[in-house]
Amino acid sequence: MPVLVGEISSSQSDVHRLYGGVVPELASREHLRNLPVLFQSLLRTSQVKEEDIDVIAVTRGPGLKGCLLMGVGFAKGFAFARGIPLVGVNHIEGHVLVPMLDNPDLEFPYLALVVSGGHTEIVEVRGVSDYQVKARTIDDAAGEAFDKSANLLGFEYPGGPELATLADTVNSSRYRLPKVMREAEGFSFSGLKTAISLLIQANTDALDDSELRAELAFAIQDSIVDALLFKLKKAAKESGVKRIVVTGGVSANKRLRTLVKEEFGENAFFPNWTHCMDNAAMVGFAAALRFEHLQQVDTLDFGVKSRWPIEDLSHQSETSE
Ligand code: KG4
Ligand code: ZN
Repeated sequence: MPVLVGEISSSQSDVHRLYGGVVPELASREHLRNLPVLFQSLLRTSQVKEEDIDVIAVTRGPGLKGCLLMGVGFAKGFAFARGIPLVGVNHIEGHVLVPMLDNPDLEFPYLALVVSGGHTEIVEVRGVSDYQVKARTIDDAAGEAFDKSANLLGFEYPGGPELATLADTVNSSRYRLPKVMREAEGFSFSGLKTAISLLIQANTDALDDSELRAELAFAIQDSIVDALLFKLKKAAKESGVKRIVVTGGVSANKRLRTLVKEEFGENAFFPNWTHCMDNAAMVGFAAALRFEHLQQVDTLDFGVKSRWPIEDLSHQSETSE
């Protein structure tokens, strides 16, 4: 199994907070500016020399095209200059596989609930590049539901983690939100979003009271977590897969972790805290597995894929955008 020798990350939240969400053009420029600096800094701190690198991994998609192009351009340049192989990785595959890096006893097959700012899906992971999507969202992602609700509570972008921290200061709530997603096949957060917005509109006074605001946060967190857990239990029952993984930014949510552990016990696995939110280690790890198990090497003329559902990997779709 590949081991991690060093990692570094940089957050752009401060840049985008001013605008209340990610501004794609600014995001690409930040990548262009930060990537070479971070790379040099990582080589220094992990005491790795450029000549020690045998393969370079890069996120090929899905995501914002401009940002993907920055990373892919940098990686191609490095691979070409050094004459080493390049491996393009699917971002969601990174989230899905990284719990294996952090939990050496985790084995295939497992069911992965991917909950991030852009994705919410349940994937049956049978092996490297063998994925079957069991459910996915038809509108917002779980992270977006957290962030948009946090915004209604007065938190700045992204807000999800702050909402969770506030919710965890209380043990119950006087506010009630409907149980959602009981019938539909996939995930859908639009009904819940409306219910949350109406709840806050009806209780604007509560926003000025620290206890009541925390109870609102508790009710919101609970409703989102409840919907995720309901779908996860259903998928586990229907698929018969024993091991359960929760991954992506929202897997840092303590309430979600507690309830998943309560339900699945020793069969529940999570990434380390540093590998919940987007990180390069997950991309390097996925590339190492693909290189090792599938001998994947990409050509220097490959394109980025701003849309790239994970199930496409199972049949190695090669269309680029
Ligand atoms: O995976 P990620 O870093 O980026 C994407 O690929 O989208 O996920 C970021 C998302 C954001 O929406 C953020 O608010 C959410 O993860 N998030 C949380 C928590 N920590 C991060 N949501 C709820 N509770 C948390 N503790
Ligand atoms: Zn992500």
